[in-house]
Amino acid sequence: MQIPGRQIHWFESIDSTMHEAARLASAGCPSGTVVGADRQTAGIGRQGRSWHSETAAGLYVSVVLRLESAAMPSVMLALGLAVSRAITRVTGLKPDLRWPNDVLISGKKAAGILADLSDGAVIAGIGLNVNQTEMPGDIRDLATSLRIESGREWDRERVLAAMLDAIDEETSRDAHSIVAAFRAASTYAEGKHVIVDRPEQRLEGITAGLDPDGFLLIRTKDGRTERVVSGGVRPLEPQCS
Ligand code: BTN
Repeated sequence: MQIPGRQIHWFESIDSTMHEAARLASAGCPSGTVVGADRQTAGIGRQGRSWHSETAAGLYVSVVLRLESAAMPSVMLALGLAVSRAITRVTGLKPDLRWPNDVLISGKKAAGILADLSDGAVIAGIGLNVNQTEMPGDIRDLATSLRIESGREWDRERVLAAMLDAIDEETSRDAHSIVAAFRAASTYAEGKHVIVDRPEQRLEGITAGLDPDGFLLIRTKDGRTERVVSGGVRPLEPQCS
C-alpha cells in the first residue's frame, strides 16, 4: 500500500501490527506512521480477545499518533468517529458507534479499535472488515463487513487513505467537540438499555449521555448514575460482543 506523504510499513504477514508500531514509536518514528498487514497471525482485540484477520480481506493497521493531548477516552471516541466517517465517505454506509469506539453496521461490528500508549505516543490499532464475504461461525451473528452490507467489493487502499485523512481530522479537534460529535453519531450514547461487564461488578442500566471527558454515564434501576471508565458495553438483548 502506498499513500503519498505517509510512512507505511506493510507486511504480508505479521503477528500483530501493534507490536511493530510500538517498536517504531520507541525508535522515534514520525506521527502518522502506519504499520499494516495483509494477514495477522495473532491479531489482538480488546479485553483479551483475538482479532480475526482473514488474509487480504480486511484492513489491519496500527497508526502511531503523537498528539498534543492524548486524553482518554476522547482519543478513543475520535478514532471511532474517524473510521465511521471514512466508511461513509467511501461507501455511503452509515455506521453506528458503540462506546467507546466499536463501529457497527446493521447492529453488527464492522470495525474494532484499540488505543495503547507507548513511549508518549498513541498506537491506534484498527481492524476493519472490508471484503469478507462471510464471517466465521463463532462471530457470524456479531460481525459484518463493508462488502456484506453493501453487496460489492471495495478497494482497501482507498478505504485506508480515507481513514487516515479522517483520523487526522478527528484527532485534531478538542475534547468538547469530539464528545459532542460522538453523542450525535451514536445511538448508544443515550437511552439504550445496556450491560457493562466490569472486572469488579456487572452494571446494568440506561445510557445517559457522556461526561465532558467522554466517559459513558449509565442510570441504574436504583436511580444512581455511574460513570463507565472501562469494560465492554453491550445491549441488553444479545447482539455484538
Ligand atoms: C476490538 O477488539 O474491538 C479491537 C480490535 C482491534 C484489531 C486491530 S487489527 C490491527 C491492530 N493489530 C492488532 O493486533 N489489533 C489491532
